Amino acid sequence: MISFEKEVSDRIKANVQDSILNQSAEAFMTASTLPKYCYNFAWLGRPVIQYPQDIVAMQEVIWEVKPDLIIETGIAHGGSLIMSASMLLLLDYCDAVESGTSLDPQETKRRVLGLDIDIRAHNKKAIEAHPLSNKIDMIEGSSIAPDIITEVKRRAKNYKRVLVCLDSNHTHKHVLAELEAYAPLVTPDSYCVVFDTIIEDLSAEMFPDRPWGPGNNPKTAVHDFLRNHSEFKINSSIHNKLLITVARDGFLQRKK
Ligand SMILES: C[S@@+](CC[C@H](N)C(=O)[O-])C[C@H]1O[C@@H](n2cnc3c(N)ncnc32)[C@H](O)[C@@H]1O
Repeated sequence: MISFEKEVSDRIKANVQDSILNQSAEAFMTASTLPKYCYNFAWLGRPVIQYPQDIVAMQEVIWEVKPDLIIETGIAHGGSLIMSASMLLLLDYCDAVESGTSLDPQETKRRVLGLDIDIRAHNKKAIEAHPLSNKIDMIEGSSIAPDIITEVKRRAKNYKRVLVCLDSNHTHKHVLAELEAYAPLVTPDSYCVVFDTIIEDLSAEMFPDRPWGPGNNPKTAVHDFLRNHSEFKINSSIHNKLLITVARDGFLQRKK
């Protein structure tokens, strides 16, 4: 009997060959960018600037890795921080069930660390007022500032399984600097997820007031980074499964 997992994996491989399905997904990504479709969603009450497919992919990644620290660059309204915090609390809960202990949310070790150059006062207030805020730490400053990088490295030393998500300034130079700073913190088998690689596949007119665009974006940074970092590989089964994603080539898994 073919296992369900094998069935799924065969279907994903077949879907990659399905030109109508792939063209439809590309058309949707292109048509949904300017209307800001990805700004329409929230996670446990906080706006999250992501496509629902990528949120589900992050749930699968977090379940697979079971990180004790998630580092995120780019907080905005805090939705992705709350999503990560909620997943970490569920992992804490599963640990407690498995070990037959009771869960004290104040005592759990898993945490999310968010970085943003500008944590708006109303967003900060709402994140701090959220019931999951006790699993979240935030640092204000540029994610590539040397003092911020030093502080993140200092905090990460206390953790065994680290997952990193990059979603801040989307220029090649910035993302490459983030990759050089934070990818080394990713523990083996975990991921550095780089969002908005899709910019490479969209037209320059879509980003008239942005410093990034085709040729200068997270995807170009990822490919540059991978030239010198054979310890990371793109897990293409994730973007091949999603089809609707802003992170094609962005799910970088640490192999050693
Ligand atoms: C796309 S939003 C983040 C969305 C968020 N991760 C979510 O899923 O809801 C990008 C954020 O990056 C922040 N940002 C821009 N430049 C930055 C930098 N140099 N360092 C850290 N954060 C930066 C912006 O202030 C903005 O809040």
